[in-house]
Amino acid sequence: MALNGIDAIVFGVADMAEAKRFLDDWGVAPVAAPPDRLVYRTRDGAEVIVRRHDAADLPPAIESGNTVREVVWAAANAQELDGTLEKLRGLPNFGIGSDGLPRVTDPNGLSLAFRVSNRTPVTVKPTQPNAPGSHQRVNQRSPVHDQAHPINIGHVVMFAADFAAMRSFYTEELGFIISDEYPGHGVFTRCQPVGDHHNAFILNRPGRPGINHVAFTVADIHEVIGGGIAMSKKGWKTEIGPGRHPISSAYFWYFENPLAPPLEYYADEDYCTEEWKPGTFERKPELFAEWAIVGGIDGKTRRQVRASDQSGRGHA
Ligand SMILES: [Fe+2]
Repeated sequence: MALNGIDAIVFGVADMAEAKRFLDDWGVAPVAAPPDRLVYRTRDGAEVIVRRHDAADLPPAIESGNTVREVVWAAANAQELDGTLEKLRGLPNFGIGSDGLPRVTDPNGLSLAFRVSNRTPVTVKPTQPNAPGSHQRVNQRSPVHDQAHPINIGHVVMFAADFAAMRSFYTEELGFIISDEYPGHGVFTRCQPVGDHHNAFILNRPGRPGINHVAFTVADIHEVIGGGIAMSKKGWKTEIGPGRHPISSAYFWYFENPLAPPLEYYADEDYCTEEWKPGTFERKPELFAEWAIVGGIDGKTRRQVRASDQSGRGHA
């Protein structure tokens, strides 16, 4: 019995107009919604729901500022959902919301809701690489993306006020599986035995619960780079990226935004089965990123800048 991913994330924000401007640029699709909220969907139908931070019916915030107010986890069918909820039903804060969805709060105080998934899995063929003796892309150019189109909401990363309690809640109550771990500092968990490397990553930050980032999957490194450059050109500020995580293997690019702590485009993460061997690692900066560009890139290469330079020094 397992959950199969994130069906929706609800954000509470101070400035709805700025949130709308960001999401229009981010590449998720707007859908009709009541006037008090914004609703966007990824390609598989996962919802990004934005509410005013002071909306009376929003679950409490676990930190100040714009942030995640609820994560809606999903199961493939009613039987899987029931199996997952079995352990949660005994928890003191388990309840059924006014919308009929079962809910609990995690040890950080974050509201979690559960439902049978509304998503339709998307099959994506990333750009195939060529190498001497191994030509997987024949008579076909590799694309340049001028906009990302996020496929799903792949993971949420949380700062745990009580790391042991959060680790135990996600692995023992929710049944998430440990993919890799920095003992005592961070644990990468996936919500199903066969699936992407992590759906929830929990970081130890004693006494200060919070959201570290929320991540959107794109097809491949070319979409990470093209989508990120598009965001930069529209004026959105890079938090860090592009870069590559050695743990999970993914390419990433994080952006500051008016919804929450950073939002991430990422691609090409490890895919795990029961045969995956979880690693334990000592926390050090090289394990966050093999390489990363701090301030982002904006498509203004030296040659492009010189081409628009009227001084005549345009030929390097
Ligand atoms: Fe991430």
